Amino acid sequence: MKTNECILAIETSCDETSAAIIRNGIEIVSNVVSSQIESHKRFGGVVPEIASRHHVEQITIIIEQALKEAKMSMDDISAVAVTEGPGLVGALLIGVNAAKSLAFAHNLPLIGVHHIAGHIYANRLVRELKFPLVALVVSGGHTELVLMKEHGKFEVIGETRDDAVGEAYDKVARTLGLPYPGGPHIDRLAALGEATIDLPRAWLEPESLDFSFSGLKSSVINTLHNYKQRGEEIVVENVAASFQASVIEVLVKKTKRATDHYGVKQLLLAGGVAANKGLRAKLEEEFTESEIDLIIPPLSLCTDNAAMIGAAASIKFNYKNFSGYDLNGNPGLDLEQQ
Ligand code: KG4
Ligand code: ZN
Repeated sequence: MKTNECILAIETSCDETSAAIIRNGIEIVSNVVSSQIESHKRFGGVVPEIASRHHVEQITIIIEQALKEAKMSMDDISAVAVTEGPGLVGALLIGVNAAKSLAFAHNLPLIGVHHIAGHIYANRLVRELKFPLVALVVSGGHTELVLMKEHGKFEVIGETRDDAVGEAYDKVARTLGLPYPGGPHIDRLAALGEATIDLPRAWLEPESLDFSFSGLKSSVINTLHNYKQRGEEIVVENVAASFQASVIEVLVKKTKRATDHYGVKQLLLAGGVAANKGLRAKLEEEFTESEIDLIIPPLSLCTDNAAMIGAAASIKFNYKNFSGYDLNGNPGLDLEQQ
């Protein structure tokens, strides 16, 4: 590895504008994140057009801030990395065009990064990765079990057949009248309640590593509807606790199935839902005493940020796997083709 390789990374795939500088793939020199949550809250979800406009307003300020906090100029930068997809196309384009302009103006290599590769590589900012490993990826758009046998190669061994887990959290939260994004609210309320309601667990076929959360989501909505019709009191904390218990039981059991089956050395947790306290605690309970090294990133590296994009880009930098100036935002980018 080249010593003191410094990557300027940019992330604009959804509702966070972020820029970071990562040294040698493992050290965060700076990581500036500007969240747009307040602007989207009143609409109950991310409005793509508003997201793009905010990214346009923020992008140069955030990049300058990342350089300033790192006490660096573009002369210290070895490459410019950016989230290429998946995400909202208009939002992705702002980051991609900013990265292309910077790379062109300063004659630097350009590196397109898959957003989920970024979430997975957030773990390398905590500890060195050991292969083979499995990553449990849980975010607003993705729920996947990913097997890695070496750096930069991803094999999806299980995925959701319908809703992503974060999406189910947000929809259930909306039904309960909680603000967007609902995941953290359900998590907080779940800790105050008891799992008194019997909700389904979608195990699918025996041995399947796939997930399904839409049945659970509908079941919560139906239960709430029935309570209202019967005029029974809804204890929001108990609904949250029951929903969270179902989600966590399925996520943890399927993850255990995957780690047993593939005999992995490490288990990584990745994505926005990795911030969930209940999930973190249950994974720790399940794996702390085991031979498998469990990495759970700090909260700041679970939700969208550019540091994780820089960490993933470092692997491509070392393989000289650079992008051309025809790099485009790609909402359907495939993780396995990276
Ligand atoms: O990874 P992320 O920041 O954006 C995507 O790439 O999708 O994930 C956002 C998702 C949202 O659905 C949000 O509700 C969920 O992560 N989330 C949580 C928690 N914190 C964020 N879900 C459950 N518990 C949490 N503590
Ligand atoms: Zn994300």
